[in-house]
Amino acid sequence: MSGFGRSLRREFRLEPGVDFINHGSFGAPPVAVLAEAERWRSRMEANPDDFLRNSLPAALRTAAVELARFLHAEPVDLVFIENATAAVNTVLRSLEFKPGDEILLNSQSYGAVRQAVRFVCERTGGKSVEPRVRVPVRDAAELVQTVAPALSARTRLVIVDHISSPSGVIWPVAEIVGLARSHGAQVLVDGAHAPGQLELDIPAVGADWYAGNCHKWLFAARGCGFLWSRRAAQAELHPLSISHAYGTGFTAEFDWTGTRDFSAWLAAGAGIRFLHELGADAARRYCHELVVAAAEKIARAWGEPLGGPPALHGFMMAIRLPPRWQRAATRANATELQSLLMREHRIAVAIMPIEGALWARISAQVYNAAADYERLLELGLRGPG
Ligand SMILES: Cc1ncc(COP(=O)(O)O)c(C=O)c1O
Repeated sequence: MSGFGRSLRREFRLEPGVDFINHGSFGAPPVAVLAEAERWRSRMEANPDDFLRNSLPAALRTAAVELARFLHAEPVDLVFIENATAAVNTVLRSLEFKPGDEILLNSQSYGAVRQAVRFVCERTGGKSVEPRVRVPVRDAAELVQTVAPALSARTRLVIVDHISSPSGVIWPVAEIVGLARSHGAQVLVDGAHAPGQLELDIPAVGADWYAGNCHKWLFAARGCGFLWSRRAAQAELHPLSISHAYGTGFTAEFDWTGTRDFSAWLAAGAGIRFLHELGADAARRYCHELVVAAAEKIARAWGEPLGGPPALHGFMMAIRLPPRWQRAATRANATELQSLLMREHRIAVAIMPIEGALWARISAQVYNAAADYERLLELGLRGPG
């Protein structure tokens, strides 16, 4: 395979002319992985009855073995699920909360997760607690100090992002797990962005549950997420759709939740192989160094801060937008600006409301090059008009 950057873009289906610097929202699978998913689809469609009844169970477990190896986990502790949202909902909807129980999030938690917590709290009398994370973040210790005072004997569950969505900041999750345990709380790590960006040893994190995506940074076809569970915490977990295998064990229950297209899960290994062929360490180094160089250059040109120091980031960084781009820091305004950048300028970049201001979150993937960030930098100096 050729070197990183522009020449790798042909391995993806990305439309020419678009500065694609928002890999974080939905990912972008390589052509080779989509082809592998299509091969699985063809096998299924040749004889759906035979495939789904007789071949699928073993094929799914083989795919789980490959993913588990990548995550340093045991396959029996790992199930596929369509995305991190479903994985987080699965844990929230499986646990029994009592009135007064607290679920600890933070101000940088993902919006959909916040809504799922709200849903559960409205039905059980539970309460979400959301300490405010100051951005720019100074260091990992500051993140720990932000959540520590919010823990108490009432804390039933802590949900901590491995990588925050708005800022791309990496959290010291093992340390947070240790703190939560000392208060008797269970911990769910929302690792939607972590697999592929970070070198992961999931059991070593020490959490009860780890929700992850392969379709963001692990080159999987869309709809490929997973849920890992500590062995002792598996009995209380059940999929959102209860199906035939209810009560027969963790992997059995999750491996069949009704008829669906399983191709993205079955092709998960192709994404891992794509990364290994590139060289996982070299790819990680390339993406991290590229995003840091681009973010620092933009921040310097705009005279605006970064969301955190480079050492706290993987492949995503946020830069506050210059004053002439600022407007009320609402989700609606961020979405409008993001759409304008796509429509008028063909730039795919995430615009995030953080702490009363709008920020641009940029990303680097193996197909990106320094030139992909130039138009955003220039526009920042001119204003959106
Ligand atoms: C922290 C976090 N959790 C969950 C999600 C949801 O991921 P998905 O849409 O794949 O379910 C995201 C998506 O960006 C995220 O950033």
